[in-house]
Parts: sequence; structure tokens; C-alpha cells
Amino acid sequence: MPQGIRLPKEQRNDGDFYPTPYWVLQSLLDQWSPPLGPVLEPAAGSGNLLRVLRRQYPDVELHAVELMSEHADILKLSSDHLWIHDFLTWAPPENVEYGAIITNPPFSLAQYFVEKALTVPHRAVAMLLPLNFLASRKRYAFWQTHPCTTIAVLSERPSFNGAGTAAQDYAWFIWDDSTDSLAQHIIHLRRRSN
Ligand SMILES: C[S@@+](CC[C@H](N)C(=O)[O-])C[C@H]1O[C@@H](n2cnc3c(N)ncnc32)[C@H](O)[C@@H]1O
Repeated sequence: MPQGIRLPKEQRNDGDFYPTPYWVLQSLLDQWSPPLGPVLEPAAGSGNLLRVLRRQYPDVELHAVELMSEHADILKLSSDHLWIHDFLTWAPPENVEYGAIITNPPFSLAQYFVEKALTVPHRAVAMLLPLNFLASRKRYAFWQTHPCTTIAVLSERPSFNGAGTAAQDYAWFIWDDSTDSLAQHIIHLRRRSN
């Protein structure tokens, strides 16, 4: 099986729970609109991405999957449908095509999450991943078979725990039906000043 990316154990939280700061998704939505349709957050955590989506698109149906039941109560408030389940073995509802599947996946399962998301009916998949997800010998075959269409680079490193910025640079990697060359879609994102 292909390998995802894995932080040293001492740098990881239980379950790889790193809530994404709101500005990280907002900066993407300032420049990229998910295609119409319900949105799936497949590793929803405590719902940070769902709250940004709800604020930006109040009428869009939000579906959430999360492994850890401790997040269920808060996720019920920020989603329309919730599954406490392993996304990698989760079966999507019948007759639903997601406009977008958007998440910051658990680091150790990142590649599996991308591969699984691409099997769920969707128009776009957007994953927050370290920039170096583009590299490494072990992901060469993955990139040959799953080329993405846009890379939206964060110009600022996020802080996932409120105490200092991440040790790596991040980008939103997007898979959709664009046919333009990827180079035209490497865009740089800036945090809003307000
Ligand atoms: C990096 S955190 C991000 C949380 C949220 N997406 C956000 O951006 O704030 C990853 C989340 O994935 C959840 N998770 C880990 N393995 C999972 C799996 N197999 N299926 C679904 N969720 C999983 C963790 O419990 C954690 O809440």
C-alpha cells in the first residue's frame, strides 16, 4: 500500500487532531469557489472547516465524517449529516454527488484520504497538505496516476495548536475537471488583514 506522510510520533496528537485555523480555508474560498452541490468534510475534527463553509455558503448542505466520537456533539451543530466512522471504510450515501470534498486530513493517512475521496462521487476535492506532499520517491506513482489541477499555496505557515507556526509550508491541493495546465493554477494566498 502507498504510504501517507507521517510526522515523528512525538510531534503528533492522538488521532492526528490538528484543527485548522479559519483563515486557512477562508483564504482559499476568497479565490476558489467549490462547484455547486453538497460539501463533504471527511475528517471533520471539531468542525473548523465546516464553520467557515457555513458562514460562506449558508444554503449548502454540509456532510461530515469523523472517526472520534468525542467530536460528535459539536459536529452535529455545524453539519447537516454526520457519520462517526472511519472515512477510509465509509460508504457515501446513494445518489449524492458532492460539489466538493474538503478537508485537512490526518497527516499519517493523507494519501489514503486523497485516494478514497477521489472514489466518492464529487466534482472537486480540496485537501490541505504540506507542500512537500508533491515530492518523495514513494509518492511518484501516486502523482502519475492522480495529477491535481490546482495548488493554492499558503503564503504564511498556519498554527495548528495556537502555539507557534507549523514546521512546514502548506497548500490546498485541488483535483477537479479543469483541463488547463497545472502551472496556470499555482496561486499564492494571503491572510486577510481583517
Ligand atoms: C488534522 S485533523 C483536522 C480536523 C479538521 N478537518 C480541521 O481541519 O479542523 C484530522 C482529523 O481526522 C480525524 N481522523 C483520523 N483518522 C480518521 C479516519 N480514518 N476517518 C475519519 N476521520 C479521521 C482525526 O480524529 C482528526 O479530527
